[in-house]
Amino acid sequence: MGTTEARARSWINARLATMDPSSGHPYGALEGPHALRTRHGRIEAVMPMRDWRPASGEEAVDAAGRWMTPGLVDCHTHLVWGGDRAGEFERRLAGASYAEIAAGGGGIRATVRATRATSEEELARTAAERLAPLLAEGLTTVEIKSGYGLTLADELKQLRAARRVASLVTVRATTTLLAAHAVPPEFEGRADDYVSHVCDAILPAAAAEGLADAVDVFCERIAFSPEQCARVFGRARELGLPVKGHMEQLSNLGGSRLAASHGALSADHVEYLDEAGVEALAHAGTCAVLLPGAFYFLRETQRPPVEALRRAGVPMAVATDLNPGTSPFASLRLAANMACVLFGLTVEEAFAAITREAARALGLAGRRGVLAGGADADLALWSVPHPNALVYEPMAPRLWQRVLGGEIVA
Ligand code: NIG
Ligand code: FE
Repeated sequence: MGTTEARARSWINARLATMDPSSGHPYGALEGPHALRTRHGRIEAVMPMRDWRPASGEEAVDAAGRWMTPGLVDCHTHLVWGGDRAGEFERRLAGASYAEIAAGGGGIRATVRATRATSEEELARTAAERLAPLLAEGLTTVEIKSGYGLTLADELKQLRAARRVASLVTVRATTTLLAAHAVPPEFEGRADDYVSHVCDAILPAAAAEGLADAVDVFCERIAFSPEQCARVFGRARELGLPVKGHMEQLSNLGGSRLAASHGALSADHVEYLDEAGVEALAHAGTCAVLLPGAFYFLRETQRPPVEALRRAGVPMAVATDLNPGTSPFASLRLAANMACVLFGLTVEEAFAAITREAARALGLAGRRGVLAGGADADLALWSVPHPNALVYEPMAPRLWQRVLGGEIVA
């Protein structure tokens, strides 16, 4: 990525959906043809075509009336894993529940066995391969969690593989340490001891190597209690790392309130979130990340409280949750479509949820997910009559150009 290139590049004759609410129009759309100038990998300026003059030595890319949006941001994935869980899917269809399979040593633990047995190189290669359909639909930033290693060495291996993905394909990756995803077999019946190991060994090592941009937990009866999650959050904050959590996915343990009290970036899933939890998120400015792929694949019936979240002004992001057990769907636009059909988001909310709000959920508000001066020049240009088509018809390709740090990458 030539992000330090001083030469400017402008996209001209584009229709801009800036996703910047200050424009006062749906999708932050700007009236009439516009130009967007990039320099040093950032957006330098946005202007109506009538005000645009080529800067000296500048390259101009003619968008010929196409729509430009921010590049898409997937703010919750478990992209790096070994093995597959197709057999578990069949067992669930035959009547076994996700929690039953987990209790029997399957589920997350099955993927842990397979991931431990796979090399860092192979994990990075398969993760990069899995990203192909997402890149083809305009993705420019992806968050990648660990959580299938659950030993010091294997969690770091997963995070290194996640970091390596960005050198194999043109994407920006952020990494999240999710060592508190499941109790590993070595600590069976000793969850508190495992949490101590996470706090005393895994977290400091990941922080020292600069391998984690954030720290996540799975707060659930089949995983970790709020007290255990609080210990992980406390340690992460001591190490200067932002926190987030898988909260209220299968039951309500008050995880979102806990997350909010630690200033978390996001509470994710939140199907079982109650009114007090909604209030806590709103008060802390913590995002709710909705994961309709997992809701659909687990045949969940409890919907996240979208109306209450909306009323309280909680920022709502949508992500794929791409993982082998509960959401094997590599399409963020499909997730946005599902968020509309299954959860009741408007199409505009859903598109904001995979751009501006997803960036917010990663602590990148204003920096990604919007077309505004100073933001990273991560762009998507589309052959669509309107950006609403991107959510309406998720499987139609429609991508004309993908731009990362001002460079055309597809
Ligand atoms: O987001 N909820 C826990 N973690 C993942 C599932 C991971 C798995 O089943 O492998 C999720 O749904
Ligand atoms: Fe997840």
